[in-house]
Amino acid sequence: MSDITVIGLGNMGTALAQALLDDGWEVTVWNRTKSKAEPLIEAGASLANNPATAIQASPVFIVCVMNYDVTQKILSQPNVQEALNGKVMIQLSSGTPVEARESEVWIKGHQAAYLDGEIMVYPDQIGKQDADILVAGDQDIYQQCEDLLYALAGNIVYLGENISAPLAYGWAMGSVLWGSLLGALHGARICEVEGLAVDQFAERLIKSDMETISGAIQDVLKRINEERFGESQGSLNVAADGAERLLKHAHEAGINADFPKYAATTLRQAIEVGLGDEDMAAFIKVLRDRA
Ligand SMILES: NC(=O)c1ccc[n+]([C@@H]2O[C@H](COP(=O)([O-])OP(=O)(O)OC[C@H]3O[C@@H](n4cnc5c(N)ncnc54)[C@H](OP(=O)(O)O)[C@@H]3O)[C@@H](O)[C@H]2O)c1
Repeated sequence: MSDITVIGLGNMGTALAQALLDDGWEVTVWNRTKSKAEPLIEAGASLANNPATAIQASPVFIVCVMNYDVTQKILSQPNVQEALNGKVMIQLSSGTPVEARESEVWIKGHQAAYLDGEIMVYPDQIGKQDADILVAGDQDIYQQCEDLLYALAGNIVYLGENISAPLAYGWAMGSVLWGSLLGALHGARICEVEGLAVDQFAERLIKSDMETISGAIQDVLKRINEERFGESQGSLNVAADGAERLLKHAHEAGINADFPKYAATTLRQAIEVGLGDEDMAAFIKVLRDRA
């Protein structure tokens, strides 16, 4: 019997299994493509021949595969459902909050316990003190698994028993990241077409503007939380006008206009419904009304 099983040895699963071995845990592994297990076996892991024996090998098993559909395919393999009895599953594959809730019901229906988590870092940060993993599930099960979770990341954030919380926060943060990255890419294109150095844009962004941007995001989120939309330093009228000018520039400069078009058409909706004098945060009212 080993301490923990890791199912899925892609970039992330391999990093998780290696971090557990480095921390002194006895690890069993399984992956569809067997060859990916070789470095871990050399480092001391045991290889299971199939998912059922992998799950039987330890009291706790981690699944870290492409997504929940793949997880479900693996859990549908022969003898797995019998092997689940009494085990703890930690799902670290990415999915949606709905999939997390469905998974919890399914796993508990097979007499196993369930934690769901969202890894907030790249594989090369796994096992390090500043790595973040968000986790939710029954508190006693979390406490039972706490030591091994801390082998994976120095910053384990337990979010309580709402099983969909890690994925919901993960996607909320992902939205901020992708929005910012798409904006940065459009910004880089503006620099290119206007003959400015992209590295100077990057330097300026890191030195001073990032603080302003993160302050603005925090202010918007605080206002939404407090339902406080008046007394703004930057009204939606100003933001919408800015977005229209960003779009105008893209047309004038002949560069791709997808990002400014999205910003302009989106913010225009707020003006149309009479929110122009309110703070940018008031745009949440448009989002709440339109599915
Ligand atoms: N990489 C990151 O930076 C990162 C960060 C945070 C979260 N995550 C999450 O971690 C999870 C794994 O990511 P990764 O980077 O390890 O991905 P990856 O390197 O592409 O590995 C994918 C894993 O899924 C398995 N898989 C895919 N389809 C399968 C199927 N039909 N049947 C059985 N196994 C299948 C693969 O098995 P084979 O080896 O046999 O193909 C492999 O073990 C994802 O949900 C990802 O969103 C990743």
